[in-house]
Amino acid sequence: MFARFSRRLATTCPPAARELGLLREHEDIAKRHAKVRAAWAPHLAESRKVILEVAERCDRRQRVLVIGAGDCLDVPVAGLAECFAEVVLADIVTSAEVRWWEKKLSGQVRGANWDASGALAALAAVRKTVASQEASEIFAKADAGPPPGGEADLIVSANCISQLGLVPGHSLPAYDKDKGLPDRCAKAAAKRHLAWLQQQPGVRLLLADAARYDIGPDGKQLKKETLHERFGLPKPDRTWRWDLAPIPEWSPDFHRVHEVGAWMFGENVVRR
Ligand SMILES: C[S@@+](CC[C@H](N)C(=O)[O-])C[C@H]1O[C@@H](n2cnc3c(N)ncnc32)[C@H](O)[C@@H]1O
Repeated sequence: MFARFSRRLATTCPPAARELGLLREHEDIAKRHAKVRAAWAPHLAESRKVILEVAERCDRRQRVLVIGAGDCLDVPVAGLAECFAEVVLADIVTSAEVRWWEKKLSGQVRGANWDASGALAALAAVRKTVASQEASEIFAKADAGPPPGGEADLIVSANCISQLGLVPGHSLPAYDKDKGLPDRCAKAAAKRHLAWLQQQPGVRLLLADAARYDIGPDGKQLKKETLHERFGLPKPDRTWRWDLAPIPEWSPDFHRVHEVGAWMFGENVVRR
């Protein structure tokens, strides 16, 4: 209880993002992780490994930016600090974990409350009355602006792209009448984030859900949904399995499993 209270005190989130449910979602992720820590461990280890492998192949090493840093569960902060002069940990919610790294590696690591969708302030201003069509257009037209901390030699988008429009979409009153709204916001926000990433210089690494499976208790695949094609992405460079919600976390009838993908863009990288 006390630990949770002191974590909350150290956590910062702009009011617009709170209204749109992002602080609550941040806390829910921490709770889900605490419940299924062992099931998530291989996925988190694989994410950290891929990030470090790409970091070590960058030929310029002034600054690395991590987008969606959250609690840094999948971010190898110490390893990145060995490779880069500066580490910027960006998220709409700056967590107690990020504050801890800022103190531990003072002057080298810093957190930034930053909206990677560029849409949250505009959306929060009209949250109560916005029509569903208008909401997804806000994401489609938004601009996240320059990267926090300045241009980076490596940008890692860390398992956040599918969340950018989804969580705010669920928080809108318009969702009550249009259950497809969060999905459309998610798609629009993901496309904008991809376009933004593609415009940036340096090496870029995208970690994101590639597919979602429902697996029965006997191991039989009950359902598969490919996610990366919805966002106009090619096949990932690498994939691995994430046991997101073992029975009974999501459903008593199936395990929810994600295939996570890693996509790498950019020229300033030593190819192996
Ligand atoms: C699934 S979590 C990623 C896990 C995180 N990398 C970790 O290791 O804890 C998604 C993250 O995206 C962040 N996020 C959601 N919307 C955002 C936005 N508009 N701008 C920046 N970060 C956002 C959330 O706050 C959350 O920390």
